[in-house]
Amino acid sequence: MKENRPSATAQRVAMQRAAHQLLDDPKVFDDPVALRIIGKESASALQANPRQYETTKLSPYLRAFVAARSRHAEDELALGVRRGVRQYVILGAGLDTFAYRNPYPGGVLHVFEVDHPATQTWKQARLDEIGITPTGDLTFAPVDFETQTLADGLRGAGYDPGKCTFFSWLGVTEYLTTEAVMATLRFIASAPKGSGIVFDYMISPSLLTPAQRTRFDALARRVGSAGEPWQAFFDPELLTKDLRAMSFGSVEDIGPDEINARYFKDRKDGLRVGSLSHVMKAQV
Ligand SMILES: C[S@@+](CC[C@H](N)C(=O)[O-])C[C@H]1O[C@@H](n2cnc3c(N)ncnc32)[C@H](O)[C@@H]1O
Repeated sequence: MKENRPSATAQRVAMQRAAHQLLDDPKVFDDPVALRIIGKESASALQANPRQYETTKLSPYLRAFVAARSRHAEDELALGVRRGVRQYVILGAGLDTFAYRNPYPGGVLHVFEVDHPATQTWKQARLDEIGITPTGDLTFAPVDFETQTLADGLRGAGYDPGKCTFFSWLGVTEYLTTEAVMATLRFIASAPKGSGIVFDYMISPSLLTPAQRTRFDALARRVGSAGEPWQAFFDPELLTKDLRAMSFGSVEDIGPDEINARYFKDRKDGLRVGSLSHVMKAQV
C-alpha cells in the first residue's frame, strides 16, 4: 500500500459488492449495507448506471469472486458461532459491512476490524459521513501486517486469546509478503480448538495456463498502477501442507470449479468466478 494512504482497492471491491446487489439475481451475497458504504456519490452514480464499473470482460468474474468469498466466510462464521465462536476478527477489513449488520448482538459475537491504520481512519470517516453504526460489539484494531504482529495489534484491543475465534482475510494476502502471510496464519493456528479462518489467495503465476496468465497480467497491471502491487502467490497443494504443519486440524481448499458448483449452479445469467484465485478454510 502507498505510505499513509487508504487502500484504493478497498473502495473498488466494495463497489463490486454494491454492484452485485443491483445487477445479480439471485444474489450470492446479500448485503443490505453494501450500497451505502461506498459513499453517497458513488452510490448515486452506481444506481444511475449499475454497469458503470463493468469496464472489462473480466469485471463480472471479479464481482462474482468478491461476492462468493464473502458468502463463504459468513457461512463458515455462522457454523462457527454454533460451535462456540465468540469473536470474529476481520483482517484487512476495508469496507466490509458485517459489523453494521451483525445478527449476533448482546455479547454473543465480538467483532474486531483489523486494518492498515490509513484505511481504518478513512473507513471511520466514511461511517460518520453516512451515519452507519455497528449493530453489535465492535472494536477497531489498527495493524500494518508488514511491520506489526497481529498478536500485538489485537492485544491492545481487548481480544481474548482464550476464546474460540473465527477470522476472515478476504482480498488481502496477495498484497502482502509471503512471510507476513505465514506469520499471521501461525498466530491463528495457535487459537483455541474450534477457531478457524477463511481467506482467499492468488495462484502462483507459474501454475497458470497461457490464457490465465494473460488475464493475471492484465489484473496485476491494474492493481500495480493503483499503488498496491500483488506480492504473495501460492501453490494450493503446498499451502495445504503448510497449514497442516501449523497444526490446523482441518484444511479445505476450494478452487473455481467447486466455488461455481456451490454458489453459481443453474444460474440463467451465467455469472461465475474465474480461475486465478482460491478460497481456503482452515480450522484449529
Ligand atoms: C482489496 S482490499 C479488501 C478489503 C476487504 N477485506 C474486502 O474484501 O472488502 C485490501 C485490504 O487489505 C488491507 N491491507 C493491505 N496491506 C495491508 C497491510 N500491510 N496491513 C494491513 N492491512 C493491509 C487494505 O487496507 C485493505 O483494506
